[in-house]
Amino acid sequence: MDEDRAMTTVPLADPSTGPFAPAESAAVQVAAAMGPDVRSAAIGTATPAEDHRRVIAIDGPAAAGKTTVAGVLADRVGAILFDTGTLYRAVTRAVINEGVAVDDEEAVTALARRHHIDISPPSRDDGRRFDVLLDGKDVTWAIRDPDVTRLVSPVSEHPGVRAALLPVQRRIAGSGPVVMVGRDIGTTVVPDAGVKIFLDASAPERARRRHAEQLLRGDPSPYDRVLADLIARDAHDANRSASPLRRAGDAIGVLTDHRTVADVVAEIEGIVRSAWSRFDAEDAASVAVR
Ligand code: DC
Repeated sequence: MDEDRAMTTVPLADPSTGPFAPAESAAVQVAAAMGPDVRSAAIGTATPAEDHRRVIAIDGPAAAGKTTVAGVLADRVGAILFDTGTLYRAVTRAVINEGVAVDDEEAVTALARRHHIDISPPSRDDGRRFDVLLDGKDVTWAIRDPDVTRLVSPVSEHPGVRAALLPVQRRIAGSGPVVMVGRDIGTTVVPDAGVKIFLDASAPERARRRHAEQLLRGDPSPYDRVLADLIARDAHDANRSASPLRRAGDAIGVLTDHRTVADVVAEIEGIVRSAWSRFDAEDAASVAVR
């Protein structure tokens, strides 16, 4: 399917004044679908001549608060939010559903190319902030299941899978102001993003947040297990050969330990507004010269 993706920002309850909330409480989101050009994508090829100065790339390890911060930030600066981890999770859901071996790169890549993923405004009032559809079936909660969380890292490690998911991410990057959340946005997906942030927090703090989030969803996994899984996933994401999790050389590091969402958003919003004023001034100067 190659139609333009509808993108909608959905205003939600304001989490900006509280502590870090579960990722799903952020204001969201985007609709995305993979097109036929997925097949010809190659990691590392930049989209030529697109202006990505209004892309805000937010990368960082699991449960650093990326989606929560990005949702509030997107509302404040009038951008859409695109959480790219959703794509990898949807592919992982399909891998599990179809009983494909996670380490069979060819089969997993074929599956990533074959399936259709949509992310769109929420159709139900059950705590979700957006719908995730896999071939039209609602998998919004199913992509947060522990089995998906356990396997998403090895699935996302396959270069073929990353190549399959790259075009839709780049297409959204070229569509206007957008906050893109992931692991490799600033390094690979949009290396010329106008603002790059690397959001981080200590592992115990991140595990505490993820544990609280899972309890709310009825998943009773103990804290120690959550911490161990998180550390393992980070190590996997950081050590894979294709597009590993790492801070881009020109990314600004922001730590979220012991800080409120509002405080972190304010810091990043300041960075964004000052960069955007600079871009406006550059544009005005180039018009004046002409
Ligand atoms: O942000 P998340 O926990 O929903 O992401 C799930 C997994 O997807 C994560 O372990 C690594 C992978 N991912 C990735 O490799 N690149 C991205 N841009 C986003 C997510």
